[in-house]
Amino acid sequence: MEAIAVLDFGSQYSQLITRRVREMQVYCELFPWDAPAETVQAIHPCGYILSGGPNSAYDPGAPFVPPYVLESGLPILGICYGMQALTHALGGVVAPSTEREYGLMDVTVTAQNPLLPYGTQPVWMSHGDRIERAPDGFVSLAQSANSPIAAMGNLAQKRYGLQFHPEVRHTPGGMEILRHFVMEICEAVPDWTPGSIIHQAVERIQKQVGDQPVLSAVSGGVDSSVATALVFKAIGKQLSAVFVDTGMLRHQERESVEEAFKRNLNMPLVTVDAVDRYLAALKGVTDPETKRRTIGELFIRIFEEEARRLGSPKFLVQGTIYPDVVESAAPDRAKGMRIKSHHNVGGLPKTMDFALVEPLRYLFKDEVRAVGEALGLPAELVWRQPFPGPGLAVRCLGEVNAERLARLRAADHILTGELAAAGLLRMKPDASGTAQAFAVLLPVQSVGVMGDQRTYQEAVALRAVTTDDFMTADWARLPHDLLARIANRIVNEVAGVNRVVYDITSKPPSTIEWE
Ligand code: XMP
Repeated sequence: MEAIAVLDFGSQYSQLITRRVREMQVYCELFPWDAPAETVQAIHPCGYILSGGPNSAYDPGAPFVPPYVLESGLPILGICYGMQALTHALGGVVAPSTEREYGLMDVTVTAQNPLLPYGTQPVWMSHGDRIERAPDGFVSLAQSANSPIAAMGNLAQKRYGLQFHPEVRHTPGGMEILRHFVMEICEAVPDWTPGSIIHQAVERIQKQVGDQPVLSAVSGGVDSSVATALVFKAIGKQLSAVFVDTGMLRHQERESVEEAFKRNLNMPLVTVDAVDRYLAALKGVTDPETKRRTIGELFIRIFEEEARRLGSPKFLVQGTIYPDVVESAAPDRAKGMRIKSHHNVGGLPKTMDFALVEPLRYLFKDEVRAVGEALGLPAELVWRQPFPGPGLAVRCLGEVNAERLARLRAADHILTGELAAAGLLRMKPDASGTAQAFAVLLPVQSVGVMGDQRTYQEAVALRAVTTDDFMTADWARLPHDLLARIANRIVNEVAGVNRVVYDITSKPPSTIEWE
């Protein structure tokens, strides 16, 4: 397999580079810039990309281009700081720029080359330092108003530098530039397809677990479902998959999960009906944190019971995906930025000693979905919006009981049904649609009038957001007519609700969920 290695110098866009390369069906992995040479070389790179980063190449202790990269003779593309570090390493001169270039700028390509198309194009700049003198053997390929060397290259050695970011969508021609580097300059073979991903994962899983029994907790979410389906493909009946019905699930969610596994994959799935236990545990609980803790603790208890019943398997399937791995391994950048806390209800029982099987560890979300579809999971499941581990409990503000859950479930079903019918239950390339949309039941009663009757009932809030990464989000600008229809239907069809409001706060300062 041909692969591209990205060395991470700390830019917030490093992961994006990796994604873009994978979009070309070429395997690509992100490594800290100072990862051991053997680790990086293990993926057999056919080219290196050096990411941007916050440092100045002359800072004491600044990250540098590792010698094994320069000695490899393979093509190199330095982006922003990566270009400066490359320049510094090869004897060119980097100078602090008096003006910081930030935002959209025009660059004009001044020399024929295989990386950049001739002409002027807008690109996304974000840098302080700039190249004063390119290293020997390099020529300037493009210039901007502030930098005579906005791109440089040593065509014979296939080494290039870009002062701007081709990986961000703000650079309209960026993907084409990356494609030139990966496909033409590195001559990578696009063999990273769902089929090859599955093939490799199956081999890896079989090698890891041998003939040992393996346990999996299915939540109905995309990641745990695809991970479970992959492990099942690899080891069949050695896998026991457990699905806990907490009673905090959405409309017909249990049925659709059971159907997906039993009918579509022909896989045995053990459903534990724990609805009454959850309702009992949550009785009288209104504090959000206590709700989460109660649900998390009960999940662990039930899971332990099931594991014991199944002969205490030593291996556990986890749906960890690549962005989770990268975030926890990244250099400085990630430390200040980990806003999202990991509050999965499927948190591991600390007292149980499992070895983890993580078949999605190297996959981005879109790859997980493609693999899920290739494995035969239904599109509704594979394209599901994220759903929090504690489920409807954190959307049922105030006390959680069967009656209020039914009310919330019905309202949520109307909202998502209408969005699906309008084609807005997914994010679209033009950023319309929704990344997450759901109803929240508020423990607030207000006065209404139905027929000639005064009513005094609860309110439902609709939450619908657009986002790429769920760390920040904006409220979705849904069509007014659609909102009107949803509100109308909820008030008419859901007993106990006489008012619907639309949440128009972004994250931050709000969060996506209400609790
Ligand atoms: P917030 O509300 O923090 O949510 O803006 C960001 C994303 O995380 C999801 N979320 C959770 N996921 N367990 C989960 O597995 C949880 O306890 C949890 N709380 C929030 C939320 O749905 C959104 O996608």
